[in-house]
Amino acid sequence: MDTTNLFRLDGKVALVTGGSRGIGKMIAAGFIAQGAKVYISSRKGPACDDTAAELGPNCIPLPCDVSTVTGCKALAEQLAAHEDKLDILVNNAGAAWGVPFEEFPESGWDKVMDLNVKSPFFLTQALHGLLKAAGTPGRPAKVINITSIDGQRLNPWETYSYHASKSALIYLTKRMAARLVRDHVNVTSIAPGAFASDMNKAARDHSDDVAQGIPAGRIGTDEDMAGAAIYLASRAGDYVIGETITVDGGLVHAALGTSIDA
Ligand SMILES: NC(=O)c1ccc[n+]([C@@H]2O[C@H](COP(=O)([O-])OP(=O)(O)OC[C@H]3O[C@@H](n4cnc5c(N)ncnc54)[C@H](OP(=O)(O)O)[C@@H]3O)[C@@H](O)[C@H]2O)c1
Repeated sequence: MDTTNLFRLDGKVALVTGGSRGIGKMIAAGFIAQGAKVYISSRKGPACDDTAAELGPNCIPLPCDVSTVTGCKALAEQLAAHEDKLDILVNNAGAAWGVPFEEFPESGWDKVMDLNVKSPFFLTQALHGLLKAAGTPGRPAKVINITSIDGQRLNPWETYSYHASKSALIYLTKRMAARLVRDHVNVTSIAPGAFASDMNKAARDHSDDVAQGIPAGRIGTDEDMAGAAIYLASRAGDYVIGETITVDGGLVHAALGTSIDA
């Protein structure tokens, strides 16, 4: 057995939604370091351009709003204008909304469910042809959904639609995997814990405080996220189907509110 290239992604084409910043950017950078060509997408064109300039010539900006089916189809068409196959799709773009139960608005429900649940399904559907063109029995194409530990256990905040969306996406991952494995397309998910980002400002701005509640004693790093994504995307992860990998420093297995010193 030669393990030299087990985690390499040379010649692979990837699309990372929400790749302009945060977790999506961590994954895009990791894929590029392993030899992939990576298209990054988000709503704001200049943000995509800046990130692509930072990550180098193998990072290509493809701005698009994927919160609607029309947007998902538009992004798929844009990609098809550049590529005739897609080896790796990372459905990462996501949103959260936290408001007390009595005041929680319909807009906070629809925005989160549309982007976090509807978009991964319909973007994968729109890219089905390109994914099938990449997948073979020996080397399946990959769809990696970015879910959350908030789909596995409660956090202290009143993020009703976010909890529901991430739990739904974990289950949707299994259902889509059961169907798409027939086309040599493996669907999996990564459930992150605390990673510094615009969405997780607590982890970004108060990492020492947040780390107190994490058994590993720290928040997640770029390498933690890239490592899990590279594993699933590469030959190393080819036999993993429908599974969610939790990358959280042990948080899900700790009791809510437990301090590392407790
Ligand atoms: N950070 C954490 O601790 C954590 C933990 C668990 C799970 N997650 C999940 O990880 C994923 C990334 O989160 P993050 O923390 O990196 O958040 P973030 O920093 O807010 O990044 C979100 C990304 O999605 C893009 N985006 C937002 N709405 C979009 C839309 N309608 N269409 C296309 N792109 C859109 C944003 O760019 P534009 O504004 O330009 O559109 C941005 O690139 C999410 O699914 C989130 O739920 C994060």
